[in-house]
Formats: sequence, C-alpha cells, structure tokens
Amino acid sequence: MIVHDILHNAANSFETAGIPSARLDAEVLLAFCLKCERLEFFKNTDMTISKRQLAQFRALINRRLRWEPVAYLTGRKDFWTMTLEVNKDVLIPRPDTEIIVEEALDVCSKTNSAEIKKILDVGTGSGAIAIALAREIALARIVATDISAAALTLAKKNVRALKLENVIDFRRGDLFEPVEGIFDVIACNPPYMSENEYKKLPAGVKDYEPAVALLSGKNGTEFCEKLIYQAPGYLKKNGWLLLEIGAKQEKTVRRLMEESGFYDSMKMRRDYSGLPRVMKARRK
Ligand SMILES: C[S@@+](CC[C@H](N)C(=O)[O-])C[C@H]1O[C@@H](n2cnc3c(N)ncnc32)[C@H](O)[C@@H]1O
Repeated sequence: MIVHDILHNAANSFETAGIPSARLDAEVLLAFCLKCERLEFFKNTDMTISKRQLAQFRALINRRLRWEPVAYLTGRKDFWTMTLEVNKDVLIPRPDTEIIVEEALDVCSKTNSAEIKKILDVGTGSGAIAIALAREIALARIVATDISAAALTLAKKNVRALKLENVIDFRRGDLFEPVEGIFDVIACNPPYMSENEYKKLPAGVKDYEPAVALLSGKNGTEFCEKLIYQAPGYLKKNGWLLLEIGAKQEKTVRRLMEESGFYDSMKMRRDYSGLPRVMKARRK
C-alpha cells in the first residue's frame, strides 16, 4: 500500500474526531512504525508499508482516537537537546518547562564557572530538568527526587541511556524528606492543578497522565506552598528557587514568597505565549 494514502486517511479520521494537529500526529505515528524520519514521506512519494507495519499503525491510530497522547504511543518525547523515554508513570515533559532549564543556566552562568554547582530537582518525573542541566553544566552535581518509585525507575533509565549516572543522584520521597545538604539552585515543576481545573482537563491529559504529577490539593497551591516554606532550609544564601507555576498563580506564589520572608529578587519569567510560567526567587 502507498504510504501517502494511508497518511491521508489517518489524518482525516483524527480530524473528524476533533484531534488537534491531526496531520502531524499521523505523520509521527507512521514514521514511528516505519522507523524513519517524517521527511521521508515527502522525499519518497512511492514509499510502501508492509502488512505488519500497517497493523501496528492501525493499532496506534485506534489508541490515538481514544486520545492517548502520541508520546505514550511512541514511548518518547523530545525535551531540550535530547529525546527521553516516557511512559504512563511520568508526566510528558512540556516545552514550557525548558524555561526552568534556561533560568537555571542563567543563574549558574553568573557564578564562578570553576565551582561545582549543586542543583536539586524536586519532582523529577522523567528526569527532564535534571538531565538537561546535567548535559549543560560541566561541574553540576544534581540530586533529583520524586514521590513516585515508578517515575524514578524511568528517570534512571533515561540517565543511563545518556550516560549521566555519575552526575545525578536519585532519591525517593515526599518533597525534601529524602534530601540532605545545601544547594545553589532548587528547580521544581510541581503539580499545580486545582481540583476544579483537574476535572476540566482534556481527556488526553486526565485519562492518561499521572494525577500525582498534576493535582495539588483543592486550590492547586498545596505543593507550592510547602516547597516555598521548606526550600530555604536547603538553599545557600543567595541561592535560587526556580518554580514553574500555573498561568493564574503568579499573585498567590508571589504573596507566599513575600509572606515567608525568606526570599528577595523575585522575578516572573513568561512563556512564549506570554503567560506567567517560572517564578525565580533568591534566598536572602
Ligand atoms: C508536573 S510533574 C513534573 C515532572 C518533570 N519534572 C517535568 O517537568 O516534566 C510533578 C512531579 O512531582 C512528583 N511529585 C508529586 N508530589 C510529590 C511530592 N510530594 N514529593 C516529591 N515529588 C512529588 C510527581 O510524581 C511528578 O513526577
């Protein structure tokens, strides 16, 4: 069978089902089954597909039609400069989270480059933030935590695949419970959905991604509040807390930081759609 026809039909059924980026999803899934780059479909218009590949592609189309995210179907997701393995035990890393990586690199570049940088990633999930920083900062020593044992199993697998075992130390536990020592930077993309927001999430997120990675109490700020109050115990003087927040949480997070009395130089970094995304604050 000719690949172009199959692609066209798959994109049409995604479109009819209301799946955004229908054509792209069809291309990504087909490229996954054919073990090629999407570009091949345009370079080679006579490309064909075997029966086995077609059966695999059809099975993936059916799962996508039930809104399963493409990253879980292919088992991988690009983040920063690497491709990470992902599965249903971890949040799929979002492009917006790369802003935390940028901010961490920025604060680390402003200190002595010959010094070891001690970095803590709380709630590491797939390991996205910790691994990106380990690849960028030559003298980084990183501790990455998560409450989910299954998430840590996958994060360790990602670290082994990228040969960074000696740089990242994984610990399992609630917030700072498994952590010792003092850090230059604490980075965290916490769960930050309120109960109401969680209920209204699209099926592709709510039915597949782990609730523990998304939901944080009635108002969405439970985790954040604990983190803001506990982080100073693990931050050097003039060390930085970098915290990803929900688009409507800027005021609350700023107030919590001010009320705690532990921070100065608070600054909000917006994402590329102009929404508040990462709150940066310095330990007094
Ligand atoms: C929004 S996800 C972020 C994952 C990853 N850092 C990223 O940016 O893609 C939040 C992560 O925090 C973890 N988590 C939730 N509650 C936690 C807690 N009390 N202590 C430590 N980790 C927690 C979840 O398991 C999840 O992996």
